[in-house]
Amino acid sequence: MDFNAEDASIFESALSDDSSRPKVYIETYGCQMNVNDSEVVASILIANGYAITSNINEADVILINTCSIRENAETRVFGRIDLFGQVKKSKPSVLVGVLGCMAERLKDQLLEEKKVVDLVVGPDAYRELPVLLRAAEDGQKGINVLLSREETYADISPVRLDKNGVSAFVSIMRGCNNMCSYCVVPYTRGAERSRDPHTIVREVQELVDAGYREVTLLGQNVNSYHWEEQKGLVKQKISFSDLLEMVALVDPRLRVRFSTSHPKDLTNEVLYTMAMYENICNHIHLPVQSGSTRILQLMNRKYTREDYLDRIKAIRSIIPDCSISTDIIAGFCTETEVDHDMTLSIMREVGFDFAYMFKYSERPNTKAARQLKDDVPEEVKTRRLMEIIELQGKLSEQSKKNDVGKRFEVLIEGESKKSKDEFFGRTSQNKVVVFPKENHKIGEFVFVEVTDCTPATLIGHIVEE
Ligand code: SAH
Ligand code: SF4
Ligand code: F3S
Repeated sequence: MDFNAEDASIFESALSDDSSRPKVYIETYGCQMNVNDSEVVASILIANGYAITSNINEADVILINTCSIRENAETRVFGRIDLFGQVKKSKPSVLVGVLGCMAERLKDQLLEEKKVVDLVVGPDAYRELPVLLRAAEDGQKGINVLLSREETYADISPVRLDKNGVSAFVSIMRGCNNMCSYCVVPYTRGAERSRDPHTIVREVQELVDAGYREVTLLGQNVNSYHWEEQKGLVKQKISFSDLLEMVALVDPRLRVRFSTSHPKDLTNEVLYTMAMYENICNHIHLPVQSGSTRILQLMNRKYTREDYLDRIKAIRSIIPDCSISTDIIAGFCTETEVDHDMTLSIMREVGFDFAYMFKYSERPNTKAARQLKDDVPEEVKTRRLMEIIELQGKLSEQSKKNDVGKRFEVLIEGESKKSKDEFFGRTSQNKVVVFPKENHKIGEFVFVEVTDCTPATLIGHIVEE
């Protein structure tokens, strides 16, 4: 993760002037849950006498929070670990720790194969980090990759590392029970468990009190969030839609987003809750993966093309101005040209506003790796992915063009990268808009009229409501 000088100064002031604290540098790869986990790790380490630094050269401890989702994600991390080896050559006392999904997947293999690594800590063992670090300081390499059925870090207030002071991630659950055949996450993150809703609401309230204006509730499959508690004589059940309402009610001026929704679990109840509360953003990330029912079955996604389209219909009728984004995998095992065409046609039919698109990457020990042949040739995967990317380019452009001439409420998130005179922010539909600053500040809501667009952003100016 990138830090800027401003972040570093925030940390230093938060940590008193005690320069004797050992300094930890954290680099993060992978999904938003990993970003949030690094914030939990920072919180645990600060409470145990460490300081966080954004400068790798002044670090006493280098931590890399890793991702295993595709082979190239792991290759990138291996490259970084080798680079840390260079840092260690010039400063041998530096400790190097591997956290996250690669730690969980590769376990002691990482210690054996990468001599520079001093500790390996899986996603459910971060409370052990201070103990493992102390042992490593005494020359003892350490590993803890135990997965838990309970750990949700519910009581830990994450230290916001990417501090823009406006938007924050809040994890509401961990793990995944879905077992999509291609996916490594159930193995690296363990079984699904939901976090106590009262701790979620408390964390959201703290964020509001600290001036935050947007939260994104995170889970691999937020729609299966589930909590039960005893209220007197009755057992009370809290579903995702109940939780969404509880969070929306914390403050009407706080924007609420969530990710990721699984098509098989997205209920109308959730859609009605979204429609009812103005501050729940009108955007749903609903990974389709493939447009072919046969491939979806092999992927163990538990919905058909028709089921997916039924959910799209429900979204369109309950929340007419909702944007929809997705994830797509090209070239899954046995995928034919006909299957691929069905993916292209479902993309057209839905008209996705945005998509993350990937080539299938076989992950060791997953169901697909054990039972199916990764038989689509590399060049075919590449060509199909290119076709998907090209089509999505057109759909994304169309989605932006449809916004030209309209007005949107926009949360100002920061200064535009291209101009000091402009801000960027997002619409409720999660589209980025760039506009002249006038006399406004980061963190404010403004109304913006969209006058133009580029392939990546909307362009507009502030107007009166
Ligand atoms: N929990 C989320 C997504 C988790 S991973 C969900 O269920 O939708 C993010 C995306 O990575 C997935 O949606 C999928 O499109 C992609 N992905 C996961 N495993 C992959 C693999 N082995 N090869 C290629 N893409 C993969
Ligand atoms: Fe992986 Fe499927 Fe779980 Fe998403 S729902 S994390 S794709 S197993
Ligand atoms: Fe990657 Fe682990 Fe997230 S594999 S996508 S960091 S859950």
